[in-house]
Amino acid sequence: MAERETWATRAGFILAAIGSAVGLGNIWRFPFQTAENGGAAFLVVYLVAVLLIGIPALLAEFVIGRRANINAIEAFSKLNRPQWAFIGALGVVGSFWTLSYYSVVGGWVIRFIYATGTGAAFAAPGEYFGTVASGTGAVALHALFMLLTIVIVAFGIERGIELATRLMVPSIVVLLVGLAVYTVTLPGAAGGYDFFLTPDFGAIVANAGTVIPAATGQALFSLSVGFSVMITYASYLGADDNLGADGLTIAVSNAFVGVLAGLVVLPLLFVGGIVPGTESFPAGGGAGAVFIALPTALADLPGPLGQVVGVVFFGTVLIAALSSSISLLEAVVSYLVDNYELPRAPTALGLGSVIFVLGIPSALSLGWLDWFDGIAVTLFLPFAVLLVVLFVGWVMGQEAVDEIRQGTGGVGSLPVVWLWALRTVVLLGIVVVVALNLNDLFLTPNSGYYIVPGPLR
Ligand code: ALA
Repeated sequence: MAERETWATRAGFILAAIGSAVGLGNIWRFPFQTAENGGAAFLVVYLVAVLLIGIPALLAEFVIGRRANINAIEAFSKLNRPQWAFIGALGVVGSFWTLSYYSVVGGWVIRFIYATGTGAAFAAPGEYFGTVASGTGAVALHALFMLLTIVIVAFGIERGIELATRLMVPSIVVLLVGLAVYTVTLPGAAGGYDFFLTPDFGAIVANAGTVIPAATGQALFSLSVGFSVMITYASYLGADDNLGADGLTIAVSNAFVGVLAGLVVLPLLFVGGIVPGTESFPAGGGAGAVFIALPTALADLPGPLGQVVGVVFFGTVLIAALSSSISLLEAVVSYLVDNYELPRAPTALGLGSVIFVLGIPSALSLGWLDWFDGIAVTLFLPFAVLLVVLFVGWVMGQEAVDEIRQGTGGVGSLPVVWLWALRTVVLLGIVVVVALNLNDLFLTPNSGYYIVPGPLR
């Protein structure tokens, strides 16, 4: 078998993993989920979910990947527990599923590079989004986004993915900070800050049944855990990397970008007169939040400045989206490449084409997109994470602690604390979330997410 590729540098791995984490989940999904789920209350529960479930689970995926040094499905045989391989498979199927609609949103981003560049999105942003979000144009741009993803994955881990993400992380942060500072100066923004940053703890308790699963789903989606992606990326790592420190760097950067995006998008919605929880906020149309908020603000900038900022912003979001979409495709491709020695480029093309077809319904209706997204975050991700936590906590046990300790240069009893957290609090937390999700999905027809797709109800 050909020698497996590895990351060229440790920074290359961290940047690629941040690249996988930071994406449409932070810039597109996080603001609208926050808007739909009570603002600051959602932010608080989201941050707790990142700490309590997201970070421990991320480390668990790293442990599986690095110890096994092979794709997420074979990893379990390599760890001498082939009967658990279905966990890796579940994550891979989740990646496959998620990429299908992720790519549709990626297509919207391409559209908005053009639409802010020409100013076409500025006159009536809400209506403009409604017109372009679904239909043949959306299908074509979904195809283009998928093609870009395929091309990067076809070039292989080191050349394709490392190069693409090296630029993305700094530029997205600089741009978001710039936009956040500009947003402060706009009249009407104050309501947005209040909505985003002043939690009503009573509301958290009253809406716990919906806020907790939504915020946890967002935390998992955003960190790319439950997709087998982090297992795959860590499988290209050497034993000298410090998994704990790398995991923290990745999780903190990821949450930082999400909060920054919230600080830009939510106040901008208020500036544009779009107030969550009122009629001005399109019911079920939250998916358009960032695409409506940005043009609303940019339209008022003097001269061509709005157009320039729009192109740069959506251009950067495109890079962020691609550095995530490539990780979703990589999770699937690496299995076939490792296992059946299939050539990388045609495999990426074949799988990418099937994913494109699966995404067509999402490109034709927002209802379908919302349903695909709901199944991903309420079913695939929490289940995969539950199983990963169970496996690493109770099946690997001490072996997982030994793996975390490699390359750390001594961190005392922290790995043991992590193991016991996995076995107890994290496991319990994710079990509760899965139970709440199953209740919503199968027993509550009017819940946000239901097993019968909205468009067919
Ligand atoms: N973690 C990826 C994102 O947030 C999927 O976009």
